[in-house]
Amino acid sequence: MKAVILVGGQGTRLRPLTCNTPKPMIPLVNQPFIEWMLLRLRDQGIDEVILAVQYLANSFRHTLGDGSRFELKLHIVEEPEPRGTAGAVKNVEHLLDGPTFVFNGDVMTDLDLQAMLVFHREKQSKVTISLTPVDDPTQFGLVEMDKDNRVQRFLEKPRAEDITTNLVNAGTYIIEPDMFRYVPPNQFYMFERGLFPVILQTGDGMYGFPSRAYWTDIGKPQTYIDVHHDILIGKVRYNFSGHQIADRVWVDGEAVIHPTAQVVGPVVIGPGAVIERGARVIGPTVIGAGCHVGPECSLEGAVLWEGNFLEEGVVLRNSVLGRNNHIGARTQISDGTIIGDDCSLGAENRLERGIRLWPNTKLGDKAISF
Ligand code: GDD
Ligand code: MG
Repeated sequence: MKAVILVGGQGTRLRPLTCNTPKPMIPLVNQPFIEWMLLRLRDQGIDEVILAVQYLANSFRHTLGDGSRFELKLHIVEEPEPRGTAGAVKNVEHLLDGPTFVFNGDVMTDLDLQAMLVFHREKQSKVTISLTPVDDPTQFGLVEMDKDNRVQRFLEKPRAEDITTNLVNAGTYIIEPDMFRYVPPNQFYMFERGLFPVILQTGDGMYGFPSRAYWTDIGKPQTYIDVHHDILIGKVRYNFSGHQIADRVWVDGEAVIHPTAQVVGPVVIGPGAVIERGARVIGPTVIGAGCHVGPECSLEGAVLWEGNFLEEGVVLRNSVLGRNNHIGARTQISDGTIIGDDCSLGAENRLERGIRLWPNTKLGDKAISF
């Protein structure tokens, strides 16, 4: 069975993390998210995957190659310009030959794909849309169905007053290839505002497949942090590398942890990391490869990508550091703050309330306090 994964978006809501790294390549517990997704698809019976890439396309080729590492046949196809979600699949139509799974590339879920396929066949559906309940449908695609699960209405990013159900498009579809005759070639065209509303008019069978499987769109800053927490507390099954050295403390390869440091799980520590004297690392926290956590630092609910250097007494709470940042002594970073790559911060800065620093930002000592 074949699948297309849509990975061409710019990940604007996750900037600055997506300035140098496309959203599906950002690490989730020290591993590019897309790698986990490919393994999950393989384990659920998919043997050929087409990645519809656009933004930072080379990064996919460089990391994933031909897919043999995942025991999958992998095609990486770049659009000449962004074609939108449906236009991106139209662009690879020549590679499709039967009902095809299509995935948004930023959704973390353990949805049962085989059960969805059985449902698709039973209904003789042309388009099956997986659905998930959410608290706030305004950020998603709302889907109304009749009692037979046939889609009656599709409303992308509805206004609050238009909400009639908490079930939204969960970003996994099964689509019969003849449906792409409705998609204009070589144009920007969306499933959500184009093909799905058109299919409501043509009368082809379009069904919703509701599921209570774990589901989250990782494309927003707080959900990116939350999904790490969910993985580390075991709310969703996600394989990450590392061996357990203490209660829910995993180390991947060699790391140096000073005997006076306090590490309270769930914490994952990447290869080559150093945690110095008196540092406190409280889970759920992920420390990337080669990070240096200086003496008396205090980390809680933090996600660090690789190569970060924290000087003495740095405080990090519920925040994300991209790659290779240098954080000066006693600087405090909290409340969903996100620091891009290669930033250099002097001592005694204070960043809170979701501040975002673009890659290569340089700040002196005591330069910021808000
Ligand atoms: N190849 C390609 N080309 N991929 C694209 C393009 C494009 O032009 N535009 C977006 N994508 C990819 C993104 O990379 C992402 O993986 C996926 O399509 C969805 O785009 P988002 O930008 O993340 O959409 P969203 O989260 O606002 O809304 C979508 O997902 C929700 C579920 O998470 C919609 O499908 C909603 O209806 C849905 O509820
Ligand atoms: Mg999304």
